[in-house]
Amino acid sequence: MKTKFYKNCDAAELTEVAEILKNGGLVAIPTETVYGLAANAYNGEAVSKVYEAKGRPTDNPMIVHISKLEEIYPLVTDFPEKARALAEAYWPGPLTMILPKSDLVPRQVAPRLETVAVRMPSHPIARKIIELAGVPLAAPSANSSGSPSPTTAQHVLNDLDGKIDAIVDGGECDVGIESTVITLATEVPRLLRPGGITLSQLEDVLGQVDVDPAVLSELKEGVAPASPGMKYKHYSPKAEVYIVEGSIESFRFLIDSEKQEGDMALCFNGEEKDISVECLSFGDEKDINAQAHLLFAQLRRFDELGAKRVFVRAPSNEGVGLGVYNRLLRAAAFKVISPPAIYGLTGQTGAGKSTVGKMLSEKGYLIVDGDVAARAIVEKGSPVLCELAEAFGSDIIDENGELIRPMLAKKAFANEEERQKLNSITHPAVTEWSIDYIKENLNESHKGVIIDAAAIFDSEIRKYCSKMIVVTAPEEERLARILQRDSLTKEAAMLRIKAQKDEQYYKERADIIVRNYPPYDLSQELELL
Ligand code: TXA
Ligand code: MG
Repeated sequence: MKTKFYKNCDAAELTEVAEILKNGGLVAIPTETVYGLAANAYNGEAVSKVYEAKGRPTDNPMIVHISKLEEIYPLVTDFPEKARALAEAYWPGPLTMILPKSDLVPRQVAPRLETVAVRMPSHPIARKIIELAGVPLAAPSANSSGSPSPTTAQHVLNDLDGKIDAIVDGGECDVGIESTVITLATEVPRLLRPGGITLSQLEDVLGQVDVDPAVLSELKEGVAPASPGMKYKHYSPKAEVYIVEGSIESFRFLIDSEKQEGDMALCFNGEEKDISVECLSFGDEKDINAQAHLLFAQLRRFDELGAKRVFVRAPSNEGVGLGVYNRLLRAAAFKVISPPAIYGLTGQTGAGKSTVGKMLSEKGYLIVDGDVAARAIVEKGSPVLCELAEAFGSDIIDENGELIRPMLAKKAFANEEERQKLNSITHPAVTEWSIDYIKENLNESHKGVIIDAAAIFDSEIRKYCSKMIVVTAPEEERLARILQRDSLTKEAAMLRIKAQKDEQYYKERADIIVRNYPPYDLSQELELL
């Protein structure tokens, strides 16, 4: 069949579209949520064709779309006060109500059910088409069953070209995820699918509203879902999707530590540049409406880009976010990952960074020792040592093949350019070593990871640290500790202290300041960790 494409949406076109529907044809129409694949709801045969075109399981009922309130009365046997109140508050709009079904509704609309789902969309084109057709329209989302719902006419065309009579192009859908579905056929109204009308908006009108367990968790095998659509893997691109909880820093760590060919990421606006795989974004972190608007379009783009795995920054599940989170959970087949929280630990020499590291280790953190990493990467025969010899001359290596540190320091700290050359060789290696160390040593019992490194603010690894812990102590205190610890003259110790950045530098970059000197109590200082 040749699928007609309407993009003017003028009276002549919409009248033609309405004719197709009256004659039992299938037309994809824009709504404010997602595109719907519409058929005359009173024509059982037309409705059957919708299942076929979508490849939809035939036990998954459809929503009937109306344009005026009076159109609901023939569809239901009861229109309770609660439904009336909801209609008054939120219709037309992204809300679907489930009510007792009348005999006029063909069985194909809601196979084997005593109820029918009804919604009055707010999209002017959808409303006009229903009006012109003169009948309510049964319409599921206009995608191939299982793939992300379509939010543009192009998405529909990609999925259903040649399988349906026509597509009406009304531009991008505003909301971007499907309507909220609530059943009023239970004693306490129950939210079955979160969407553009939020749980608290429903509670404002209804008082108590139960949330179906299937909204946020996987159905147990053999349990019949309240809404048949909930049992199917949904909204899914071809790639494996993973939801990643936690900070952007932990997200970067996860991507870098798990990286495989075909990995891509979905993150919030502005986070793309520091992600080491191809990355799409879906709105600002706080802009839940933008996330809803963009989610499905971006999931579809990952298919076009050939993604094999997609890691997604977890959105908030508040308000409309509950709908976004619910769709993502299904796209991910409930795979949610929580990578470790990673904090940097640093401070001026003698401040007591190692003491703090030990205490945090006792508190359950895995400690990555930056000094150990720096030594490990330049071991005799290591690739980094070879690279350094190439860059700075083979006289940085002694006759046993060991690095002569003072020699390297002399050359590398000669000027800024040399210093950067050193960093560009050692930093990626330290990062890689640390990733491997964390992967080998982290277990369930750890609270998080601490990266203990003097130069953490200049390091590459700071991109994984969501917080910086800075240990401080006054200069005379630090001097005394250095003298006690290392066999140095006072002058040498002072030189070492003065060679470092001042305390202000560290404090400005700190998220948590730990005061390691009297009268402060170190365990109290670390209480919040
Ligand atoms: O925003 C929307 O609701 C879009 C646009 C096109 O209106 N439509 C949509 O339809 O998302 P669909 O078929 O993709 O999702 C309808 C959901 C399914 O999960 C289905 O199982 C559930 O509503 N549903 C429909 N009738 C039901 C009923 N009588 N009882 C329980 N759940 C029902
Ligand atoms: Mg659907």
